[in-house]
Amino acid sequence: MLYSLFRRLMFSLEPETAHYLTMDLLRFGNKIPGLSAAWNVEANQGKPVRVAGLEFPNKVGLAAGFDKNGQWIPELAALGFGHIEIGTVTPKPQPGNPRPRLFRLKEDEALLNRLGFNNQGVSAMAGRLSHLQKPKGLIIGGNLGKNKDRPNEEAELDYAESFRALAPWVDYFTLNVSSPNTPGLRALQDKEPLERLLKHLQAENERLAQPKPLFLKIAPDLTLEQLDEVLDLALSCKLSALVATNTTLSRKELSGSAASIEALGAGGISGKPLREKSLQVLKHLAKQSDGKIPIVAVGGIGSEDSAKAALDAGASLFQLYTGFIYHGPALVKRLAKL
Ligand SMILES: Cc1cc2nc3c(=O)[nH]c(=O)nc-3n(C[C@H](O)[C@H](O)[C@H](O)COP(=O)(O)O)c2cc1C
Repeated sequence: MLYSLFRRLMFSLEPETAHYLTMDLLRFGNKIPGLSAAWNVEANQGKPVRVAGLEFPNKVGLAAGFDKNGQWIPELAALGFGHIEIGTVTPKPQPGNPRPRLFRLKEDEALLNRLGFNNQGVSAMAGRLSHLQKPKGLIIGGNLGKNKDRPNEEAELDYAESFRALAPWVDYFTLNVSSPNTPGLRALQDKEPLERLLKHLQAENERLAQPKPLFLKIAPDLTLEQLDEVLDLALSCKLSALVATNTTLSRKELSGSAASIEALGAGGISGKPLREKSLQVLKHLAKQSDGKIPIVAVGGIGSEDSAKAALDAGASLFQLYTGFIYHGPALVKRLAKL
């Protein structure tokens, strides 16, 4: 009720403006004694689950892209998320694509974004994390990408640089090779470049006194053969989990007219229209891997039913982005109990 009023107000603003304003208001509201009880939950609600050697306080996480710079971790943890994936971060700061670059597709409970890894760079993130009072029990993932001007042939250098900078501060890493808004990035999912990237990062990882779990985030638009190839590499390179999936390039599930969809331009679709596609990817991976690697489900989860479907299909954890925008903190609270 409270959130539906708040959402109506925020949805009257340009989406990126609404995003930053919401987080400013959340931070401000948390400083007012008594008020924050309206949306915050008691620490670590839900049933703890062990995945990739880490103890997650519950199964619901915040997907990458919401807190790109790791600036709202305590506020988001207080809403009930058991894990928060910050980033995508790149070594150098970059502005991303020109605005407008984020759109609401309300009738489909979806978003279209072509942000293009706008972020403050890994030094800013690491500096912030070094001062963070980490909320008790929270698991923090660092989602890594490459700068736009770094050629694919050298991509591993960017991932490795951010890996080294964040290793003291995060619990796991996700290698993002699946965002559609950095030209050529998805080609890193092809066998040869992916193998080079994974081997390079695992070599980097082995230099740590305590290696970190490495996750790989994949696109929903891969063929079954490509998924099998990715899975083989994930297993042979000893990754700790797969994150399925990122946004889709497909416009098939959208309800608007062809002209209105075309007018929005390029970008990845998230939310309800992605749900079935992500679920099919998850089911395929779960069947083929036969429990050998955990899977983090993400894509169109916005209700208990959709979260349960992901868990039933074999996911160990799940994440939200668009469902959180449409349904607010009450959804997190409910899903934390699953
Ligand atoms: C505005 C926006 C920005 C995103 N930025 C990132 C990102 O930086 N890195 C990433 O791995 N995924 C990013 N994503 C993808 C989400 O993490 C998630 O995989 C996708 O949206 C599907 O989940 P959903 O349907 O719950 O939104 C972004 C999604 C949205 C909507």
